[in-house]
Amino acid sequence: MKFGPDILRQADLLATFSEDAPQVTRTYLSKEHKQAGEYLIGLMRDAGMTAGFDELGNIVGRYEAGVPFAPVVMTGSHQDSVRNAGKYDGLFGILSPIACVRELHRQGKRLPYTLEVVGFGDEEGVRFPATLVGSRAMAGQFDPAWLERTDSSGVSMRQAIIDFGGDPDAWQSLDRRNGEHGDVVAFVESHIEQGPVLLNEGLAVGVVTAIAGATRMRLNVTGLAGHAGTVPMGARQDALTAAAEMILLVERYCTENAGLVGTVGKLTVKPGAINVIPQDVEFTIDVRSGTDSIRTAAVAAFKSELLRIAARRNVRLAIETLYDEPAALCDPSLQKQFEVAIAAQGIAPRYLPSGAGHDAMVFPAVAPMAMLFMRCGNNGISHHPDETITAEDAETATQVLLHFFEHYQPPEFKADRAQRVDRAI
Ligand code: HGY
Ligand code: MN
Ligand code: MN
Repeated sequence: MKFGPDILRQADLLATFSEDAPQVTRTYLSKEHKQAGEYLIGLMRDAGMTAGFDELGNIVGRYEAGVPFAPVVMTGSHQDSVRNAGKYDGLFGILSPIACVRELHRQGKRLPYTLEVVGFGDEEGVRFPATLVGSRAMAGQFDPAWLERTDSSGVSMRQAIIDFGGDPDAWQSLDRRNGEHGDVVAFVESHIEQGPVLLNEGLAVGVVTAIAGATRMRLNVTGLAGHAGTVPMGARQDALTAAAEMILLVERYCTENAGLVGTVGKLTVKPGAINVIPQDVEFTIDVRSGTDSIRTAAVAAFKSELLRIAARRNVRLAIETLYDEPAALCDPSLQKQFEVAIAAQGIAPRYLPSGAGHDAMVFPAVAPMAMLFMRCGNNGISHHPDETITAEDAETATQVLLHFFEHYQPPEFKADRAQRVDRAI
């Protein structure tokens, strides 16, 4: 095997760059992000790329084309993780293309396009209440209001970018739609499936058809604190029991309506004393669907139903939308090219949707997008330390990706690029 064992060894080392080792937690703009980035930049440079951090802390490597004024194909995934994560979510999609470039460079091969490999600084949105920060900046969807959002210690994203050595006000320069970084003609991402489909069907890889849309909300329930022993049950404004009823409604609605998943992943209670009726509760909702109309109907239903619960329980409810991303369709022609690359490995092509979100989902704003999935073990568990892959599958997925890169032909020269070539010759 050329690639698999190295990729697993590199992932093992990257896992040590964690805020709570031996668990794996690496958040945006942390010391561990810097360590992981410097290691990945070293791998990129060893593979024959130019590489460095961009102004928002993304890790960007470029393998220049063999012809001038060539277009750009982008690939990559995220370097950050959820709390107590596995080792491969995101990172596989950075390590695998670097291995491809290292092989091309070893053979002295150049492509008819520049290959840009990106390790996005933030995809999970763990540290700040914003997600896909790097990829949305590159897709021209960055919201400067995010810069003022703070982490749990009160540090703003703006300050954290400055402390990291970046420039928070340079976010517009990352926009890949304006041609300053070259004409981006495709974005592809390889990623672990984070589910059991490929495992159950005995397939090492699959082609993603679409990425589910998602809405993330932060809800604040405000009641009235009181003495646990003296306030009669009928006179209470208990923020936690109100939130509990709201959370169970989200679960019931998503269970009873097909094509939806809903999760309440975070909840805080104040004052948080055993003998005080809770006054302030904050919780989050993450709701997803492959069909946008189903998801938007669910969000509308939540808003009206939860406000009704709040009124009946005499508490106040504030709902803030943190993130709202439509489902993203993968480009049929790029999907077909992945199918051909998979068939070249002697594997039957399997098309499947992604319930998980990915950096790739914002790139249709820049160029045609596609994703390659690789099998996960342990019943496909992810966002968990039991996340696992094999060196054999990492090898197969990287061979598929390399085949894709070697056979991808950029669309015919755009007129202005052809003129620039003529002028240069
Ligand atoms: O939440 C997701 O789907 C991704 O892992 N950020
Ligand atoms: Mn993830
Ligand atoms: Mn991921």
